This record gives sequence, structure tokens and C-alpha cells, in this order.
Amino acid sequence: MNYQWYPGHMTKAKRMMQENMGLIDLVIEVVDARIPLSSRNPDIDELGRNKFRVILLNKSDLADAEANRLWMEYFKEKGFHALEVNAKSGQGLRSLQGIVREACREKIERDRRRGIKNRPIRAIVVGIPNVGKSTFINSFAGKACTKTGNKPGVTKGKQWIRMNRELELLDTPGILWPKFESEEVGRNLALTGSMNDEILEMTQLASDLLGYLLSHYREQLAGRYQMSDSGDMDTALAVLTHICEIRGCYRKGQEPDYEKAASVLMDDFRSGRIGRITLELPADVS
Ligand code: G4P
Repeated sequence: MNYQWYPGHMTKAKRMMQENMGLIDLVIEVVDARIPLSSRNPDIDELGRNKFRVILLNKSDLADAEANRLWMEYFKEKGFHALEVNAKSGQGLRSLQGIVREACREKIERDRRRGIKNRPIRAIVVGIPNVGKSTFINSFAGKACTKTGNKPGVTKGKQWIRMNRELELLDTPGILWPKFESEEVGRNLALTGSMNDEILEMTQLASDLLGYLLSHYREQLAGRYQMSDSGDMDTALAVLTHICEIRGCYRKGQEPDYEKAASVLMDDFRSGRIGRITLELPADVS
């Protein structure tokens, strides 16, 4: 399958990010816990050079708990401050202030030494589309905070959300472009819904997902679709045919409607109904 993102969008996103970077101390990077590397854009290391960094392993509720633990270890080993969160429910967000303080300790101490008081840390939330940036901002900022007006040096229309005395958040997230470094990264982004489904071949995608689930999460798959253990359901096609049967996905003339079964499967997967599933592990990439 040919995965892509439009070059025009990428140039625009890159320019926006570069414009914003001058204003901030801290980059809060949101990644999808089901695909923590595929959902990163490695260019952030260049764009966020000399900035303090925190990685949020978001959608952790949809990802495998053990895999979340391994990814947290991975990022910490790489020298990042990282936090496992569920931006939708708000779970994990309470620890963020402490992590931010740790990540920015150098600036806090420098300000203190220079006698500078009440200069909050300014942060931007960044990530590729659909990782949960807006959900996180809404959830974290909640109702308790106030929006500050335009400030000198801030592009007109930009607003800072004042979280507390220590932290201000830019109200619009920075969009990073997905990086299709390999067929696998493209597939991971497509599976988790980070691309426009209209351009994807759903049956092919469902078939790839089933291949992965059969070898890594067979039990969860069997549980969701009442699959027997008889061993006759070892291929993606057999499972998809079975989904057609149990969900009544047929075309006229009782022909299995694989496209319909594929979208049932994709929908179940993306909303976590098959179980908590992670598509890549630190061991696979190292
Ligand atoms: P973005 O700004 O990075 O593009 O992402 P956005 O916040 O719009 O979130 C994309 C989708 O991911 C939304 O679902 C949102 O609810 C969901 N989401 C964000 N964070 C989490 C999380 O931690 N856990 C889970 N399970 N879902 C999360 P949607 O279907 O597009 O919208 P909605 O129907 O949920 O409102």
C-alpha cells in the first residue's frame, strides 16, 4: 500500500513549529502508546534542540500494560522524561506537574540563582495528527485555568493557557508530520487510524492486523469473535470469513462481504474492544 502525507502540509507544519520554538522552554511530545516510535517524528529532536523535553505515552488505556512499562523504560533510558497517560479520562495527568518540574530543573535553578521570580515555564504540545494533542490540552487545562491575552513577541492570535504560577501552555498544539520511514511504520499509522481511511484498502489492512493478532494476541482475538481452538482459524482469511459469519456480513447472494467484516474488525481494534494491544515493542526496533 502506498502511504503518504502531502508535502505541502508538511512544509506548513514545519514552518509553524519553527515559528513557535523561539517562544518556548519545554516541548511536551504526545505519542500513541500502541505505536510509540511509528507515531513520533524524529525531526522533533532537531526542532526541539536546546529545549526541555517530556514524552507523553498517551492512549495507554488502549495499549498492552506490560508493553507500556517497557516503553517507559526505553524512553527513560534514552534520557527523556516520560509519563504514561490517558488524556481522554485524565488518568496520569496529575503527575505531570512534577515531571515538568524535574525536566526543567536546570531553568528553574538558573532563574532562582539570577533572582528571577515568577517566570513560568512556557510549553508547547506537539505530535503527529490523531495522537490526542487536543484531548490532552483540554483535559490538562480543564476549567481551572485562564487564558492570557496576546503578549509581545507572540504571533497574533496565539494564546497561552496559564496552568498555574509555574507553567503556561500554548493553546494550539504543534502538528508534526508523520514519517513513513518504512512500510511497517506506514502500516502502523494506518492501523491506529492516524491516516485518512478513504485512501486505504481496508481489507488489506485488516488482513495485516489479523496476521499480527494471530501471532501476538490470539487469545484476545478468539475471545472477541468466539473463535474455536480447533486450529482451522490460522489464517487472516479464515478469521475474516468467520467474522462475516458471526456478524452477518454478506452481499446479495450470500457472498461474504469482506470489506464490511474488515471495518468491523478495524473499528473493534481502534476502540479497544479486542483488548489492549501494542503493535511495536522496543525489542523490535533495537
Ligand atoms: P490530535 O489533536 O492529536 O489530532 O488528536 P485528538 O485530541 O483529536 O484525539 C484523537 C482521537 O483520540 C479522539 O477520538 C480522542 O478522543 C482519542 N483519544 C485521545 N486521547 C486518548 C486516550 O488517552 N485514550 C483513548 N482511548 N482515546 C484517546 P475520536 O474518536 O476522534 O473522537 P471522540 O469520539 O473520542 O470525541
